[in-house]
Amino acid sequence: MIQLQDYSIHFQDKNFALLREQLTTNAYSKIFVLVDSNTNRHCLPILQNALEGIELHIITIQAGEIHKNIETCQFIWKALMQQKADRKSVLLNLGGGVIGDMGGFCASTFKRGIDFIQIPTTLLAQVDASIGGKLGVDFELVKNSIGLFNNPQAVYLYTDFFKTLPKNELYSGYAEVVKHTLIQNKEAFLQLNQMDCIEHSDWESLVKDSLYIKKSIVEQDPFEENIRKSLNFGHTIGHAIESLSWETDAPLLHGEAVAIGMIAECYLSYKLLGLPQHELDLIGQYLKSLYAKFDLHKIHSTNIITLIQQDKKNEHQQICFTLLNKIGAFKINIHASEALILESLAYYNNL
Ligand SMILES: NC(=O)c1ccc[n+]([C@@H]2O[C@H](COP(=O)([O-])OP(=O)(O)OC[C@H]3O[C@@H](n4cnc5c(N)ncnc54)[C@H](O)[C@@H]3O)[C@@H](O)[C@H]2O)c1
Ligand SMILES: [Zn+2]
Repeated sequence: MIQLQDYSIHFQDKNFALLREQLTTNAYSKIFVLVDSNTNRHCLPILQNALEGIELHIITIQAGEIHKNIETCQFIWKALMQQKADRKSVLLNLGGGVIGDMGGFCASTFKRGIDFIQIPTTLLAQVDASIGGKLGVDFELVKNSIGLFNNPQAVYLYTDFFKTLPKNELYSGYAEVVKHTLIQNKEAFLQLNQMDCIEHSDWESLVKDSLYIKKSIVEQDPFEENIRKSLNFGHTIGHAIESLSWETDAPLLHGEAVAIGMIAECYLSYKLLGLPQHELDLIGQYLKSLYAKFDLHKIHSTNIITLIQQDKKNEHQQICFTLLNKIGAFKINIHASEALILESLAYYNNL
């Protein structure tokens, strides 16, 4: 168990015994479980089985990032209201980052805040979304633009959930694992490079290592005033591409877009911070080997710039990036011109 500020992260809690104990000890008036259509089918039976005898009120929403919005929040708040949730109720968020971010946001705002517990079921949510306290939804095509910081009562990590996770979702989450190594640990990045096939990874240790990197960063800077910005590496360009891809015939998953963002932002790092060319090549080739090429011509580049300008991390109208000096070392608040950003997109397209 890792103690993170005021909540615990439990690894592979056998039969969810600690969760059962936590729910019982807290004497919650009602226990709600938020799932999407997929986690309802694949993950809920595991939880129901483990918590047999405890009454669970299930709230099911449709799966997918396009449902991470205020309309779905209204549906969740209504369900809580209709089923008479009160301040002593708890919401268990059983799903990927969409369920965790949106469920946490709904719980934190319902009756000025009820307890919530994260039970992430995707690789992405286990190594990234479930810790750090960022909660929220997308608004007007801008990712996570409505939200707040708040911590759950606990996080339960159970890697067996990955058994039913579609392969592209596993790869999507893996992009965050790669990102953590790129900003913090060259040795770990080189080890990832040596793995033949990510699908047969030792998930327990990979999740643990990756999570430790995020944990140490968010503990030092919970409100993203300085070094937490390093976790945005690949995301300034990645988020814009992700949102715009939803309007094309080839919508990208979060991690797939972040992988493109990381390649483009490595190019910016090479140009602006002197990231060595051989490291730029190594990162580009590695990510290219993992993710299918996305044709950026599908998206108008001026739209990418417009969306990047709306990024939450920007300050004083300047586009702010976290870039790499070398693998394992970063610098925050680096400004790049529009022309150079366009060049970085062309670099990705020609790779
Ligand atoms: N809060 C943060 O700090 C933070 C960090 C990174 C990402 N995020 C957010 O997380 C979201 C992406 O998370 P995600 O990739 O987990 O997306 P997701 O929640 O949409 O899950 C991906 C897909 O997998 C399905 N699924 C989930 N678990 C499954 C399982 N065990 N078996 C079968 N299917 C399963 C879901 O239904 C969905 O279709 C984005 O909205 C992103 O903004 C938040
Ligand atoms: Zn991310």
